[in-house]
Amino acid sequence: GRREDLAGRHVVVSAGGTREAIDPVRFIGNRSSGLQGYALARTAVARGAEVTLVAANVTLPDPAGAKVVRVESARQLRDAVLAAAEHADAVVMAAAVADFRPVRQSDTKIKKSSAEPDPIHLVKNPDILAELGEVRRARLEAYAAGAAAAGGGRETGEGLAAAKEAGADGPRPRVIVGFAAETDDVLANGRAKLERKGCDLLVVNQVGENLAFGTPDNAAVVLTAEGGSVEIPRGPKEDLADVVWDLVAQRLA
Ligand code: C5P
Repeated sequence: GRREDLAGRHVVVSAGGTREAIDPVRFIGNRSSGLQGYALARTAVARGAEVTLVAANVTLPDPAGAKVVRVESARQLRDAVLAAAEHADAVVMAAAVADFRPVRQSDTKIKKSSAEPDPIHLVKNPDILAELGEVRRARLEAYAAGAAAAGGGRETGEGLAAAKEAGADGPRPRVIVGFAAETDDVLANGRAKLERKGCDLLVVNQVGENLAFGTPDNAAVVLTAEGGSVEIPRGPKEDLADVVWDLVAQRLA
C-alpha cells in the first residue's frame, strides 16, 4: 500500500526561497513560503522514507521525523542538496532558487547618500536541478565505462569504484524532480524546461488566481521525461505531494 511504499528510501526535498545578500541587512528574495516543500517532506515521512529537508528561509515548524538542514543562499542550498543527494534515491527541488545574486556583498550596511544610488550588479547562480542531472549523467558514463572494462576482461580499480559508486540499482539520485512556476504557455514552457534541465519529472504550476505562493492549495501538471503528463486538480499541497511520491515510487520500483 501507499503508507509504507517509500520505506528504505532516502529522499531529499528542498523548500522555501533563497536570499541573496546585498549587505548585512538587505537581500534579494522571493515569495516562496516553503509550504509545498514541507508538505512533500511530511508525506514522504508518512510513507516511510528517510527524509532530508533542505530549508531556505522557511518559518514553518520542522516536520516530525525529517532531518532539516537550514540554508539561506542559493550556493548554500546547492552545497547542502548535492551533499545529501550522494546517497539519495530521489531529490525533489521544490525550493525557489534565485537565478542571480549580487556580484558583491557589502560587509557594512550601505548608507543612504544624496548622490545617485549605486547600481546592484548581478551574476548567475548555479542551476542546482541541472547540476543534479549532470552529476548523474557523469556517474552513468563512468559506470558504463567501468562495466565495459570489466566485460573486456580488463577489470580495473576505477571500473569497480565507478560501479560501486553508481550502486547496484544505478547512479544516484535515481529520480530527479523539478518544480516550475509558469504564467503563460504553461505546458510548452514546462516541457522545454524538463528537457533543458534533464530531470525525470517536472511539476508545473500555473501562478496566479490564489494558487501556488503562500496558499495552502495548489494545482499542477506533472510532466514526465517520457513525454507523459498527469494533471493534479486544485487541492491541498499534501495531495499534490502524494501524487509526486506515487510517481517517484513507481520509478524506483
Ligand atoms: O528555471 P526555473 O527557476 O523556472 O526552474 C525551476 C526549478 O529549477 C525548480 O525545481 C528549482 O528548484 C530549480 N532551480 C535550481 N537552481 C536554480 C534555479 C532553479 O535548482 N538556480
